[in-house]
Amino acid sequence: MADLDDIKDGKDWGEDRPVDVSRFFLKGSEHYDWGMKARLSNIFRPESGRTVMLAFDHGYFQGPTTGLERLDLSIAPLAPYTDVLMCTRGALRTVIRPETKKPVVLRCSAGNSILTELSNELISVEIEDAIRLGASAMAAQVYIGAEYEHKSISNVVKLIDSGTRYGIPTMAVTGVGADMVRDARYFGLATRIAAEIGAQLVKSYYVEEGFEKIVLGCPVPIVIAGGKKLPERDALEMAYRAIDQGAAGVDMGRNVFQSSNPVGMLQALEQVVHHNMTGADAYALFQDAKPLNAD
Ligand code: 5RP
Repeated sequence: MADLDDIKDGKDWGEDRPVDVSRFFLKGSEHYDWGMKARLSNIFRPESGRTVMLAFDHGYFQGPTTGLERLDLSIAPLAPYTDVLMCTRGALRTVIRPETKKPVVLRCSAGNSILTELSNELISVEIEDAIRLGASAMAAQVYIGAEYEHKSISNVVKLIDSGTRYGIPTMAVTGVGADMVRDARYFGLATRIAAEIGAQLVKSYYVEEGFEKIVLGCPVPIVIAGGKKLPERDALEMAYRAIDQGAAGVDMGRNVFQSSNPVGMLQALEQVVHHNMTGADAYALFQDAKPLNAD
């Protein structure tokens, strides 16, 4: 039986002893087989061990939100500027040209809307379709502490089991319900549960206090969501801090496609993520960046 009164903050995080990645460049991934490693190498650049993903899967529960009204106009032209596309199969098939040749992290959960309980999801894509679409990974939400926690964990476990059969990694997305606290203790719990059930990568939010411990306590790579639209300077500073504190990249949506210059944001994020550029320098780069169709 769980001793709820005995949940304490961890003490020994081994900050000075980095995880051994000498046999494969990604944390926690050296014992996977060839196909899994090849797909992870599509997602994360082996030179930096990091990735810039563009998330535009929001329509699966939010509908045509700002910036995603016309995916063909706003998102398709951004593909050359990102490492990875994260989206639903509907968006992929309708607006992304197969010649784009960008790895895809496929949203494989659905079943809710902003009008209902967010944690009540189901698996929305069979493994055969993920294979047919050439997905480099599948993604679904884990809603730890939410009404349908058990169901969301079960969805992710099923994806991990079917993905493992075919060498396709699963990204567990730590979802938060509207009323849930977003702190290091919560994300530390959620990301660790995701890794322990077998997710090969995990998406979390960045938190100001204790993000390093979330990363240290999670044995697989973590990428951060951007969350609500922030001023560009703040979003780039957040990305810089997350990378500096051990994140393996970003999977950002609104802070890119709702920006005044989405291409500029992706170019600035690339510098932060792959070249350790500071938030301030990346913001200067953003300010000088040409938007699409500037000429
Ligand atoms: C929705 C998702 C989205 O892909 C992601 O969180 C959105 O990214 P952002 O917060 O940067 O707009 O997983 O649950």
